Amino acid sequence: MERFKIREVKAREVLDCRGEPTIEVEVITETGIVGRASVPSGRSRGMHEAFELRDGGKRYHGKGVLKAVRNVNEILAPALKGMDVTKQREIDELMIELDGTEDKSKIGANAIVGVSLAVAKTAANALEIPLYRYIGGVNAYILPVPVLNLIEGGKLAATDLDFQEHQVMPIGAKSFSEAIRMGLEVYYELGRILMEKHGKYSLNVGVEGGYTPPGMKDPREALELELKAIEELGYTNKFALSLDCAATHLYNRNTGKYTLMGKEITREELIDFYEDLVSAYPIQSLEDPLEEEDFEGFRELTKTLNVQIIGDDLFATNIKRLRKGIEMKAANAILLKVNQVGTLSEALDVAELAFRNGYGVQVSERSGQTEDTWLADLTVGINAGQIKTGVTRSERTAQYNQLLRIEEELGKRAKYAGKNFKQPF
Ligand code: PGA
Ligand code: ZN
Repeated sequence: MERFKIREVKAREVLDCRGEPTIEVEVITETGIVGRASVPSGRSRGMHEAFELRDGGKRYHGKGVLKAVRNVNEILAPALKGMDVTKQREIDELMIELDGTEDKSKIGANAIVGVSLAVAKTAANALEIPLYRYIGGVNAYILPVPVLNLIEGGKLAATDLDFQEHQVMPIGAKSFSEAIRMGLEVYYELGRILMEKHGKYSLNVGVEGGYTPPGMKDPREALELELKAIEELGYTNKFALSLDCAATHLYNRNTGKYTLMGKEITREELIDFYEDLVSAYPIQSLEDPLEEEDFEGFRELTKTLNVQIIGDDLFATNIKRLRKGIEMKAANAILLKVNQVGTLSEALDVAELAFRNGYGVQVSERSGQTEDTWLADLTVGINAGQIKTGVTRSERTAQYNQLLRIEEELGKRAKYAGKNFKQPF
């Protein structure tokens, strides 16, 4: 049918939230139906991610994506012309074949994922249904727990904190909208507490809108103050705490040691530190507590700590790595970043494999996010039960706002994942 037949695919260079170039793709059908998607980009990247093609040279300090744009316009567009926009898997497989490399380095994973997502959005538009329903069908109804990054550290902020994200999870809310309200109230209250203790500069925010208190070094202090804000609002027991440790970036491959609070420590010492943290604080989730190759260590932590252990850099949304993790019982959840793998179909496979093996799925932004809200739709589409996308700044709140719209549209059928964020059924 003409309505679904791809007439044109075109890409352009736009900006992500950091002001760095990224790729945006439009897919247009014969009857003029358009879908547009833009591609986020990470800074705290894992080494097993699919290849992000950048131009190099002087322009935009080497970060331009004109080569990726050209690859869409000159290689992918002619190949996709005439195809049915609802044949997502066929289109994704064709792009994988045209690229021909393991990590999508010929055409660029950023080029391919831009087309893949734009194809899905166009298909939803052609069918006149929302994207989350296109992805999830009749059974897309679970609203995720927002994992709010209230205090930033690591590679994403100019602070002395080693861990990347000190998060709160409003698991005791009754609905997504209540969760967002409670989460933001804690954010304001925490701002007040931080200002009193660490001065006005602590209200400066990092890449994801979380605070960046100067002089704060100890992750325990960040957790303490988050808890204090939660308690002062009377929300004790309604929130869990969580961390993205992004430990790959604290690890020195030459010495085999981690650096935490200015001190070199062994992997065993770091594991002990987590055991203490989890017994001292109401932590329910740890992302990348160890470096990206330490499947053994992930297994040990998963066995000993009774919390969600998420593999981000560990799995890199890669089905082979997830399979290895499942076999070894390393981690019990995966961070799902579509651009780490490069097509929507592959990301959906990864999520499905995770769920079928009792693993949780947390859908995630990148630090270089865009205002495009496919992330929110994907989260409901797969009933993930959890989303992390920072806290403030428009590219983050755009996701939350889209989830508020979806919640409203689902009405009584919407179910908030709450305490069951890992297996929300
Ligand atoms: P990134 O960071 O988007 O820069 O990779 C986020 C994360 O590590 O989860
Ligand atoms: Zn991470």
